Amino acid sequence: MRPGSGRTVGVSGNGKGSELLEFEEADNLGDEWEEVDVSETDADRVAKERDREFLSFRERITDADQFKVEGAVFDDATLAAIYTLVQHGHIDAFGGPISTGKEANVFLADGPDGEVAVKIYRINASDFKHMREYLEGDPRFSGLGSDKKAVVLAWTRKELANLRRARKASVRVPEPVAAERNVLVMDFLGTDGERAKRLGEVRLENPETAYEVVAEYARRLYRAGLIHGDLSEYNVVVHDSALYVIDLGQAVTVHHPNSRDFLERDCRNVAKFFSRQGLGIDATGGDLLEFVTEPEADPS
Ligand SMILES: Nc1ncnc2c1ncn2[C@@H]1O[C@H](COP(=O)(O)OP(=O)(O)OP(=O)(O)O)[C@@H](O)[C@H]1O
Ligand SMILES: [Mg+2]
Repeated sequence: MRPGSGRTVGVSGNGKGSELLEFEEADNLGDEWEEVDVSETDADRVAKERDREFLSFRERITDADQFKVEGAVFDDATLAAIYTLVQHGHIDAFGGPISTGKEANVFLADGPDGEVAVKIYRINASDFKHMREYLEGDPRFSGLGSDKKAVVLAWTRKELANLRRARKASVRVPEPVAAERNVLVMDFLGTDGERAKRLGEVRLENPETAYEVVAEYARRLYRAGLIHGDLSEYNVVVHDSALYVIDLGQAVTVHHPNSRDFLERDCRNVAKFFSRQGLGIDATGGDLLEFVTEPEADPS
């Protein structure tokens, strides 16, 4: 089955209308990398100065049950980054853990406008080699060297920039709120503290439509110069009867030397998942790849 043929799917915009325009526009694809600044952050300074207020905050947060249960041991600079986000008004209170992954812990938290998700990349635990695969060969990251901290900090900024770009391209993603050092705050997808389920965790009533939506998202990302790089049933969630793409840290621009391989793998993984749903989909992902990379019709 070829996606996008026939009826249209409900993926127009992200339901938030004009907010899409709030983000700064990059002039050219890839320009947002220029923003990546891995010099010492406020959080590093706070951690070094260890002022009294920070020390008491650190004590409270490291005593909090959710951090103990998760065995999440964050260094002072990470705690200072959380502290800075609290001071800037992005986080009011911490809730429980949502996920403990290979590279990051995700927590539920209260923000000024409701629930937010706080994704904390662990600098020491991060699979540094894997991250480098996505950064290497990209001239915009050539100055980064092999400093682990700098790579993880760049990764966090990259996820924020990718979320913004995806939103601008009318792909539903969690709205990014702020990033500080290795900590990213975004809208929480879920209801009453219960995270939205991943595509692989639900029984799809209408797998054809879901496939068309994911295909359309991949195409919109591609047309906005982005390749997700880890697109699968694990990184698409169902929220408010709509599909959202998450986990854009590894997403690369089309300039990346391996971008074609990443795109082919994404198409293969998505096709494999949907062919398991009994759809007559080419599981090698060839059709999907063709759909995603189809040149845009000339508007004139
Ligand atoms: N904004 C969000 N709202 C609700 N849940 C979220 C949000 N972001 C992440 N999650 C949940 O946390 C999980 C892990 O997040 P994410 O995929 O971004 O991190 P990851 O580094 O890939 O983790 P892993 O190594 O487990 O794949 C997701 O599968 C999802 O269930
Ligand atoms: Mg993930």
